[in-house]
Amino acid sequence: MLIISHLTASYGGPTIIKDVALEINEKEIVTLIGPNGAGKSTVLRSIFGITQLNKNSSIRFFDQELTGLSTQEIVQLGITYDPQGRTIFPSLTVDENLDMGAYLLIDSNLVRERKDYVYKEFPRLKERRDQKSKTLSGGEQQMLAIGRCLMLSPKLLLLDEPSIGLAPKIIAEVFEKLVQIRDSGVSILMVEQNATQALKISDRAYVLELGENRLTGTGHELLKNPEVKKLYLGA
Ligand SMILES: Nc1ncnc2c1ncn2[C@@H]1O[C@H](COP(=O)(O)OP(=O)(O)O)[C@@H](O)[C@H]1O
Ligand SMILES: [Mg+2]
Repeated sequence: MLIISHLTASYGGPTIIKDVALEINEKEIVTLIGPNGAGKSTVLRSIFGITQLNKNSSIRFFDQELTGLSTQEIVQLGITYDPQGRTIFPSLTVDENLDMGAYLLIDSNLVRERKDYVYKEFPRLKERRDQKSKTLSGGEQQMLAIGRCLMLSPKLLLLDEPSIGLAPKIIAEVFEKLVQIRDSGVSILMVEQNATQALKISDRAYVLELGENRLTGTGHELLKNPEVKKLYLGA
């Protein structure tokens, strides 16, 4: 579905990502782990077209090269992105936040249809549809951020640290939803600090260090990998 090769990226200054390769297949959860500052978020931003890429960098989504496209064009091809730190609009209601996620849809029937889908996936959001989103719990706010990304029927969802700031039990609930979303046919590429829980639900994962590929394998393989255990799983 997505094949990244020779990804070399910066923010206009020093090179942050060096020659990174990464693949995501259909119906997969792929997780990026690695130390703070490794460049995990920068990889997501690069897919979304908001970093500066070296000319050898390639990001192919199905048959389409994404490098050089605008963020809006990338969204229209079927990729949505939830940046780090829950970016919902706190003084808008749940329902209004979902409308914001549908900003590229002109057909109001389609908006309604997508909203019904999100509310079916997240019944708690439906119960709270007229509440201002700042009154939701942390877990519900994260569900709303994910639900908003689903309004455009993406084929690929990019999530930056969806578990940040949540209690372990709530993380398990959010991750269970991610598995359901994957099983419904949406691939997910996520960045996670919470490596143990994330690897358990990941089909595959990549370890990044200092902007470079370090290790890759299935979630299960990396959970058992002694180096990963020592560095990222608190063993
Ligand atoms: N907007 C930015 N402008 C310049 N440098 C940045 C920006 N965002 C991140 N960086 C730098 O890029 C490097 C990788 O950051 P990031 O991708 O956020 O790492 P991670 O998500 O793995 O913690 C860090 O050295 C960070 O300081
Ligand atoms: Mg980050």
